[in-house]
Amino acid sequence: MRQILNVPLNKEYKIVISDEGFDTLKSEIEEALQGQKKLFVVSKKVFKLYGKKLGLNKDEVLVLPDGEKEKNIKNYLTIIQKAESLGLTRDDAIIALGGGVIGDIAGFAASTYMRGIDYIQIPTTLLAMVDSSVGGKTAIDLKEAKNLIGTFYQPKAVFININFLKTLDKKQFLSGLGEVLKYAFIEEDCISGQNLFLFEYLTLGCEKVFEKDALTIIRIIEYCLNLKIAVVSEDEKEAGLRRILNLGHTLAHALETITNYKKFTHGEAVAQGIFFVLEYAYAKGLISYSYYRLSTELLNKYGFKEKKIKYSPEELISIMKHDKKALQDRIKFIIPCDRKRVKEVLLTEDEVYQMF
Ligand code: GLY
Repeated sequence: MRQILNVPLNKEYKIVISDEGFDTLKSEIEEALQGQKKLFVVSKKVFKLYGKKLGLNKDEVLVLPDGEKEKNIKNYLTIIQKAESLGLTRDDAIIALGGGVIGDIAGFAASTYMRGIDYIQIPTTLLAMVDSSVGGKTAIDLKEAKNLIGTFYQPKAVFININFLKTLDKKQFLSGLGEVLKYAFIEEDCISGQNLFLFEYLTLGCEKVFEKDALTIIRIIEYCLNLKIAVVSEDEKEAGLRRILNLGHTLAHALETITNYKKFTHGEAVAQGIFFVLEYAYAKGLISYSYYRLSTELLNKYGFKEKKIKYSPEELISIMKHDKKALQDRIKFIIPCDRKRVKEVLLTEDEVYQMF
């Protein structure tokens, strides 16, 4: 089974979603490269599990440890130095094989090496498949903030093979579901004038999702990416519409930062962020009680429970103010305002304080 989506930007590219064997993936990579020299940037876990199956040549591979902490400037320089030592020129390519961390850092390296070379995304986690591998956001973190240095730089192609999910642990699979659920709460804003049913599909299809049923997973990835493509093709550089993809992320980034990326996976943090804004939206009368209930029940169905926030609101707010989403003295939140719709609000520190 395979689905091909096109991302219609200036630099148009295709996304292949499939459950075919790794030999097909290998030939697809070679075909996309058309003889370009390459450097694979691969997560340690993925290299161990799939290095042989994918016939990776060790000389062309840079293995990086797993975890958000690795999305740092030191590893970025290691990629650049490895590319240089392999003699990669502007005509060559970097291939990101791993989760969101690998995709972001390898993409950032590709966007800056010799002022920009091709890169191909091969996401191996659900989170990277439904979100970070598509849309061209690349970045590294500094201790001051996540994704503080980065670029918008579109890949040459994205190859999504859901067989990688067979070895993805439950925690990481759930983390990806946090981002999948996000799309359900924004879908009507992503594409207007169409009836969209991700919210309902996820509500009814929970069991099949947890079974990792191939057809269901491919459908969900395709659904999320069609929504993302629609948004990104209208607003590639996040000047407006693309901000809706940040639903749940204002609190999520603060929670991840305050806990040093040790307590929450990204998707768990996003789910907490969505609960937070659902509470706000309901309290302000922006959404009905029935939608509020359906929304929290949907999150609960996928194992996300609203947690009492134990961290100091002052500290969380101070982190939020340093986020890219902050604007002078206001903090930007994307909040639900109708069924499957959201809007951006700029809140004062005091208003955010009242939300805790
Ligand atoms: N992950 C949100 C975006 O790509 O804009």
